Amino acid sequence: MERIVSLCKRRGFVFQASEIYGGIGNTYDYGPLGVELLRRVKEAWWNDVVVERANVVGLDSAIIQNPKVWETSGHVGGFSDPMVDCKKCKARFRADHLAEARCPEKPSKRPGECAGELTEPREFNLMFKTNIGPLESSSSVAYLRPETAQGIFLNFQNVLNASRLVPPFGIAQIGKSFRNEITPGNFVFRTREFEQAEMEFFVPPAEEAQWYAFWKQARFDWYVKLGIDPAMLRQREHDAAELAHYSTATNDIEYAYPFGWGELEGIACRTDFDLKRHSEASGTDLVYFDPQTKERYTPYVIEPAGGINRMALTFMIDAYEEQPLEKDVRTVLHFHPEIAPITTGVFPLVKKDGMPEKAREIEEELRRGRLATFYDEKGAIGRRYRRQDEVGTPFCITVDGDTMSGDLVTVRHRDSMEQSRVAIGELRAYLDEAMRCWTRPEPVAS
Ligand code: GAP
Repeated sequence: MERIVSLCKRRGFVFQASEIYGGIGNTYDYGPLGVELLRRVKEAWWNDVVVERANVVGLDSAIIQNPKVWETSGHVGGFSDPMVDCKKCKARFRADHLAEARCPEKPSKRPGECAGELTEPREFNLMFKTNIGPLESSSSVAYLRPETAQGIFLNFQNVLNASRLVPPFGIAQIGKSFRNEITPGNFVFRTREFEQAEMEFFVPPAEEAQWYAFWKQARFDWYVKLGIDPAMLRQREHDAAELAHYSTATNDIEYAYPFGWGELEGIACRTDFDLKRHSEASGTDLVYFDPQTKERYTPYVIEPAGGINRMALTFMIDAYEEQPLEKDVRTVLHFHPEIAPITTGVFPLVKKDGMPEKAREIEEELRRGRLATFYDEKGAIGRRYRRQDEVGTPFCITVDGDTMSGDLVTVRHRDSMEQSRVAIGELRAYLDEAMRCWTRPEPVAS
């Protein structure tokens, strides 16, 4: 994990937020490569959940809603973690995560195992409060949303009227959510602000079980399709004590992180809980009227809910390999080409004989064709390949003497390190095919 954190900073994926002021807990900024990785993860999710499905549409709802929304959803009253404080060092821990926590003064010990005594657990609300308008008073209090889901429930009737969809159908949203997390975050795994990708899938109540099974499988398959090792994933049903107040069943897709198994995404049965609560509290009837059967009912909801930052971290951890070679070890990120921040590196073999100009022409052509491309003419060619391996660039294209006389370039493949000679005119088709056929490489035994 430390090596990934160090790579993230060195190569511009993730920086500590407010670093020059000493940072701010559990908060990070994304650098040039990190922002590209996040963008691609979002696009891959949106393509899979919305673009490729005729019965799912998108939404972008406000972060600050009427505070009554959060009273009704149960977040103001119940969105809390049980916390205990160490009476000696004053550190605060989640009572249900004590086994993984460490005493900040004696990291070899768990909280309570050192000389410090722990308080009884107390509920700590995770909502971020703010104020609307010029005066701070109890009537100006508002909240930053802790999940994107509620914005979807609020717009259920609007979307239904505007799109004329009929259950089963889904409304998807990607956007920032905020939680006042106070436990150690394991880098970007748990942060105070993060992006969620959620979809509320509205179904006739009798079809709940069938769609719960469908989305559990579809979401698991998506991670495997994008290159995650299935042996590092598992699906785990929540037991009754673990279920959120709105859920009758929840399945977590978990990943074997360096710090242990952790939730990557949850798929929940939310029943008609949210629509009914908002109907009652707002006085607006959030029901569906089926014109064929003349039946009126409140749909049940299946919710796949993941975090974009956690997904990006997981893709990175899973792609990371320190690969032993004959003479040394190379660090490589085996990203699926669809999510790699840079798709092609373009290099002139040497900085003379027209090679840089030719390489620049190829770079521009690839950029115009919307392939994220990086031009590099500095240092030995082997070192340039290694620099791209480390950030997960799947293809590097080298212009050499033969290119100048015969129009052929070398395409070097990140995972196999194999090289092919390709005519410049066929380069784009060659790359598209290589991206389409990409499969996850077997790790080289160390
Ligand atoms: N609407 C349901 C909901 O919000 P959740 O399990 O609390 O469910 C869904 O959150 C996903 O959001 C999680 O599986 C995780 O990927 C991501 N997530 C939640 N809290 C997070 C945090 N503090 N930092 C980063 N990602 C987080």
